[in-house]
Formats: sequence, structure tokens, C-alpha cells
Amino acid sequence: MNDVPTRHLGSLAVSAQGLGCMGMSHGYGASDDTQSIATVRHALDLGVTLLDTADFYGAGHNEELLGRAVAGRRDEVVLATKFGFANRLGEPTRVRGDAAYVRQACEASLRRLGVDHIDLYYQHRVDPQVPIEETVGAMAELVRAGKVRHLGLSEAGEQTLRRAHAVHPIAALQSEWSLWTRDLEAEIAPVCRELGIGLVPFSPLGRGFLTGRYSSVEGLAETDVRRSQPRFADGNLERNLSIVEKLNELAEAKKVTAGQLALAWVQHRGQDVVPIPGTRRQRYLEENLAALTVELSADDLAAIEAAAPAEQVAGTRYDATSLTFVDN
Ligand SMILES: NC(=O)c1ccc[n+]([C@@H]2O[C@H](COP(=O)([O-])OP(=O)(O)OC[C@H]3O[C@@H](n4cnc5c(N)ncnc54)[C@H](OP(=O)(O)O)[C@@H]3O)[C@@H](O)[C@H]2O)c1
Repeated sequence: MNDVPTRHLGSLAVSAQGLGCMGMSHGYGASDDTQSIATVRHALDLGVTLLDTADFYGAGHNEELLGRAVAGRRDEVVLATKFGFANRLGEPTRVRGDAAYVRQACEASLRRLGVDHIDLYYQHRVDPQVPIEETVGAMAELVRAGKVRHLGLSEAGEQTLRRAHAVHPIAALQSEWSLWTRDLEAEIAPVCRELGIGLVPFSPLGRGFLTGRYSSVEGLAETDVRRSQPRFADGNLERNLSIVEKLNELAEAKKVTAGQLALAWVQHRGQDVVPIPGTRRQRYLEENLAALTVELSADDLAAIEAAAPAEQVAGTRYDATSLTFVDN
């Protein structure tokens, strides 16, 4: 079965919705590999082609897991991975983008994924110590060597995008974009459109919050990163719940879920937008894919946006330290 429409990131054809695989190894508490692999394969069966991982997720575990999940089905998949966080989990964040590191990171990812090329290779965060020309120059060498097909950046700012794109075409910018995180709309998205760079919104469900599943952090594992994220903090979370309440009302009227409405809103940002909701579960995967069929009128879009005005969103999307690694 393959009824998921196709969209393009630069010249790379992908399913209009991808699958974010981070939570299968990282960030959101314990996972079950068997369940995760079944979810990835179910995604392929349903017509999803774009799978998103990174070397940092679970310190390599996520790439190895994906390698196992797509074994024998390599041709059906657009494998996207990332490099750049050079610290181990739990250590202070260290970003690297020097040419030697790019080459070394790519070899390690290829090995863990068990493939001979990566379809979309992103720099996870821009290294402020290294000119982007050096980083993208090294990534472009990987393209010439046949190890990588297309290049991407994550959380890169306007000037970085322009400089990077001048070295080698950038197919995609992967940055946070959802109803409650709209920072890139003013300046960054227009630059992407000018340059023909596709947009891959990460955390399009607000790390699950916009589905209405979390009314407190009580049920989250002790290790869940959301416990330390400002929008889930005491006081902020309660205020943010009012967004979900309004979203729920709108969703009920359209006979969909709040999560589907939040995803459909992202999908309606443009034909060059390919969100990658993350889930470990087949049930949520199916629900999220069904959001592709939700049609929203201009009035619907306005009502959805009115449910989540910027001044209503309590707390920054990352803590202060993590925000310093976002390139502006
Ligand atoms: N480039 C970057 O710096 C960066 C940063 C963060 C994420 N990402 C990528 O973006 C992907 C998605 O982001 P994300 O996982 O942070 O956030 P997200 O997609 O906004 O939300 C994921 C969370 O929502 C839950 N969920 C998913 N569908 C649901 C549904 N229909 N109903 C209820 N709950 C649902 C998931 O639960 P279960 O897992 O329990 O199913 C998980 O806890 C990641 O997997 C990763 O590949 C990239």
C-alpha cells in the first residue's frame, strides 16, 4: 500500500510525512526495540519513506535500530541522519563541524546503519567555531564520494543557510516548527523558499503536548527530557493546557484528534514542508498519517492559530543552555 503523497525537499522526493525515530532510543524514557522496529516497518508498509535519526540519539543505538528495521528494504527508504553533537550523553554539549569530524562521523553512521550511502545528511547544530564553508565543503565531498546523496542543516539561521547553499545545494532545513513554535516563519522560512530549500519541522506535535496526552509530568519517566523543558515546567504547563483545550474543541468539531489538527496545520504550511512526527507506536503512526487527509479552510487555519497565540505559550522551547546552540 502506498497512498502517502510525495513532496520534495530540494530535489529529493519523500513521503509528505516522515517518521521521527528519536524517541525509540532517546529522550522520552525506556523503549522496546521489537515494538520500535515493528513501527518502522509498518510505516514503510503504509507508504512512509522518510525516516529520521541522528548519531546522537541513544549514542548510536537509534541508527543501529533503523539499520535492523530497514534491512532488506533499503530501496524503499530515504534515510536521514545527522552529525554534530560530539559529546557523550550526559556530558556538556559540544558541537563539532570541522572537516575531519564530518568524515569520521559519516563513516560511523554508515557502519551503524549498515548501508553504503545516506540519503539526507544533516549537520545537527552549526559549529560556531568552524566556518560553515568548511563544514558544508566536507559534506559536499561525501556527496562526490557517493556516501551521501543530499545535504541538510538543522536549526541554522538565515546567513548560515545562504553561505552553506553557496557551497553546495542544501535540500532541507530541519528545525522546530509547530503551532506553539513559530520562530522560523518570519525570516528563515522565506530564505528557504528563496533558495529552494525544503522545510522539515521537528517536534510538530510539541513533543506530544499538542495531542492533549500530557496534563502533568507525573507519568513521564525520570529520565524524560521533557521534565527539564520550560514548557513542561510547573506553572507553564498549566497555562499551556489552555491551548490544548481550545485545540480539542476545534478537533471535536472536525471529528479529528487535537494531534491530527496540529499536524494538519503544519502540513498546510506549504508543499515544501515535510513534518516528522515521532512515535514508537503503530497506533499513533496511523493516526498521524491520517492527518494528511484533513483539509483545512482559511477559516479553520485562522481558528487553529487563534487557539495558540504566541503570547499564550508559556516557557521557551528549550532551556537557556540548549538555546545557545540554535544558530540565529
Ligand atoms: N533536529 C533536531 O534538533 C531535532 C530535535 C528534536 C526532534 N527531532 C526529530 O523530530 C522527530 C519528532 O520530534 P519529537 O519526537 O521531539 O516530537 P513530536 O513529534 O512533536 O512528539 C513526539 C511525542 O508525541 C507522542 N505522540 C506521537 N504521536 C502521538 C499521537 N498521535 N497521540 C499521542 N501522542 C503521540 C510520542 O509518543 P510515543 O513515542 O510514546 O509514541 C512522543 O512522546 C524526532 O523523532 C527526531 O527525529 C530533531
